[in-house]
Amino acid sequence: MPLFRADILHSPERGRIERIPDALVSVDDTGMITSVVPCGTDAPPRDTNDLRGQGVLIPGLVDLHIHAPQFPQLGMALDVPLEDWLLKYTFPLEARYSDLDFATEVYGAMVRRLLAGGTTTAVYFATIHPASSLRLAEICVEQGQRALVGRVAMDDPASCPDYYRDADAKAAIQDTADFITAVRAIPNNTLVEATVTPRFIPACSDEALAGLGKLAAEMGAPIQTHCSESDWEHQFVQTRCGMSDTFALDSFGLLTRRTVLAHAGFIDDEDMDLIRERGAGIAHCPLSNTFFANAAFPLRRALEKSVRVGLGTDISGGPSAFLLDNARAAVATSRMLETGTDPYKEQSTRGVPESRIEFRDAFWLATMGGADVLDLPVGQFAGGRQFDAVLVDLPEIDLVPFSDDDLLQAIIMRATPADLKATWVAGRCVSGDHQRSDRRFPTLISDYSQRLL
Ligand code: GUN
Ligand code: FE
Repeated sequence: MPLFRADILHSPERGRIERIPDALVSVDDTGMITSVVPCGTDAPPRDTNDLRGQGVLIPGLVDLHIHAPQFPQLGMALDVPLEDWLLKYTFPLEARYSDLDFATEVYGAMVRRLLAGGTTTAVYFATIHPASSLRLAEICVEQGQRALVGRVAMDDPASCPDYYRDADAKAAIQDTADFITAVRAIPNNTLVEATVTPRFIPACSDEALAGLGKLAAEMGAPIQTHCSESDWEHQFVQTRCGMSDTFALDSFGLLTRRTVLAHAGFIDDEDMDLIRERGAGIAHCPLSNTFFANAAFPLRRALEKSVRVGLGTDISGGPSAFLLDNARAAVATSRMLETGTDPYKEQSTRGVPESRIEFRDAFWLATMGGADVLDLPVGQFAGGRQFDAVLVDLPEIDLVPFSDDDLLQAIIMRATPADLKATWVAGRCVSGDHQRSDRRFPTLISDYSQRLL
């Protein structure tokens, strides 16, 4: 049974952090933590992975929203509105994934980079292409990243170009079903699950949306899509469906306990209530929202209404592949929403009072919040949870005295991928040079989820 001896820091509940400077964490052969105790005076066994003095161990990061095929244009084309960005840059790039070699090269490099950046669980949109979408799932299994992967459905000729579109609603549904079956058949797949993935309402016909909702129920599959992302997108759905994205998705059977909604910046109180009732979750993507959303997501309002929320990079709508860049952006944008931004307005009318979140909330969102949205037993160091972890070593941190809060705030605000020394998923070291605990573990994501439901 692998044993880790480390300085651990996590947030079991939002707003509360816990640090055990010298903890002994026992992990079983399935990657599950069996016990977490302060290291006593007895010497631990000789084969303990002793991480003391090498940094602090935090739970692995959960990125709820990534467009894997957009990785090559990370940081580019952020100066145009969403609807132009899709047609001019994004659809032409995504169309290239009909080339399996191109897909293999990009996806391999991307998963490696995300693991090095501490992303132990990733929720991916792939493209409309079944073969290269399956390749992404296989690469996650090979490299040991926990993931949800979706083959994208988009069939509406009114909004999708001829060169990058499902032939019709039937094809969109059938290809999705086949993809889910293929992912479930990947050998030794203990980590990756397939999702039903309508791109967003504007890209899909009513027939496809309804069929995909039915398919998700029949196959017991999770769902991911975009929701009320920008003024244009929100208005488009309002005009076409006569209701908000949230209510329209619900009418198609696409708002379930297993749905991840990206962005959701324009949801109102009624939308939030319905999302909470259905148990769906939100991928808050603050950096992407800065460029494409036209407004700041009312994060604190959603949290106070007990809507489940985690964080997403939205590669490449957001310019960073590093989730902690979004954790700090979540703090910053919540502060700007609270204070307002126009200095020529009276202070009392400038912002939305009580909108700010703190660094502790951002840490919780990046770990437990994401775990909760996915119903996955990750996100903290506790018995019954999977050992998904990242070793962080901030340079010069010990040149001043610091509290546990100081340490965490510094990690949230200033850590870079270079400060992450190693990453583990299910007890297996998947990035960095701590390969001693290298092993593979069998338990399907869907098994975990079903156990928790
Ligand atoms: N809405 C539909 N497709 C996309 C996408 O690829 N990125 C973002 N940010 N929004 C979308
Ligand atoms: Fe997106």
